[in-house]
Amino acid sequence: MSKLFQPTRLGALALQNAIVMAPLTRSRSDAQGVPLPHVVDYYAQRSSAGMIIAEGTQPSFAGQGYARTPGIHSPEQIAAWRKVTDAVHKGGASMVLQIMHTGRIAHPLNRQVPDAPVAPSAVTPAGQMWTDQQQMQSYPQPRAVTTAELPALREEFVQAAKNAREAGFDGVELHAANGYLLNQFLASNANLRTDGYGTDLAGRIRFVVETVKAVADAIGADRTGIRVSPGHMFNDLVDANPVETHVALLDAIPTADMAYVHVMKADAFAPQLNNAGDPTATLATMRAHTRGRMIAAGGYTQETGEAALASGELQAVVFGRPFIANPDLVARFKNGIALAQPNADLFYTPGPQGYSDYPAAG
Ligand SMILES: Cc1cc2nc3c(=O)[nH]c(=O)nc-3n(C[C@H](O)[C@H](O)[C@H](O)COP(=O)(O)O)c2cc1C
Repeated sequence: MSKLFQPTRLGALALQNAIVMAPLTRSRSDAQGVPLPHVVDYYAQRSSAGMIIAEGTQPSFAGQGYARTPGIHSPEQIAAWRKVTDAVHKGGASMVLQIMHTGRIAHPLNRQVPDAPVAPSAVTPAGQMWTDQQQMQSYPQPRAVTTAELPALREEFVQAAKNAREAGFDGVELHAANGYLLNQFLASNANLRTDGYGTDLAGRIRFVVETVKAVADAIGADRTGIRVSPGHMFNDLVDANPVETHVALLDAIPTADMAYVHVMKADAFAPQLNNAGDPTATLATMRAHTRGRMIAAGGYTQETGEAALASGELQAVVFGRPFIANPDLVARFKNGIALAQPNADLFYTPGPQGYSDYPAAG
């Protein structure tokens, strides 16, 4: 009996099946971070999923790094997201919002505020990012957030979570993966703080633990998830011991009460691993330190997803790229219909093309 198609629960979140759409940045919002009308179409087309995790969304203008990403801090953004969540709920899916503060992974041309991006420490990441005005640009040096500023930074996540609920989301996912702000606090090469919020293990996990607890207190642990990517080499983040770091993190947050822990497997995009060893073994270690529900993404197929549910390792399976070109992914799995391939050139371009114009199977 297939478990993929069975209803399931992740804390307070009720899923019509165990197939989850991954958070996918698609850069279809306006310059003020307001999702455009085709964002409603795109998510509604995918609402046969059990749950949709909306794309990385900034909690403030200061938290924005990329061009045309959405926010959840203005009345206009909240109103636009409300149209999305209403449409998705009509299709039967639950929907949570991924709160993404990009920290040092940001370029001034992509931002609406003049100040330098903040990060745990003033460590400039190697690499470049896209800007609409001047194409690829190197990252500027970030400013280290002061100790006195940390409560307000934490509060940004809390307010974003409350705003997400007001916009009709069933919960939120804190983005502590893939090299963005919360992940920067965790990693030994990005967090050199000496104020009790960095350097050693207890210090590096501290801001993330405090943020998870503050958000859980505000909207309920059972509506709060966290995404981690131990060992994922991305955005110039290298931790000396990512498994040790993430074990300590999971042991310190209320995973039994939280909606879920979401692991992105380290080899999802990049073959390089950062001191984490075999990603399958890492996933098992994360499972052992997750006292509640775990979901995971990274190259899953219908078969491997089904196996992960059958073994009890996962309570739902997360699919990213397959959802881009297959809005009816659930029906395609159910009926054995071949999957369409997405056009990667249109992942982050403006407009409906390559976004909300992928057809369902006839
Ligand atoms: C176009 C694109 C955008 C993405 N944006 C995000 C994002 O906003 N937040 C995030 O945590 N992961 C993001 N990811 C990673 C996916 O959520 C997912 O973990 C990854 O694609 C691996 O799953 P898959 O093999 O099923 O695609 C993105 C991936 C792609 C391809």
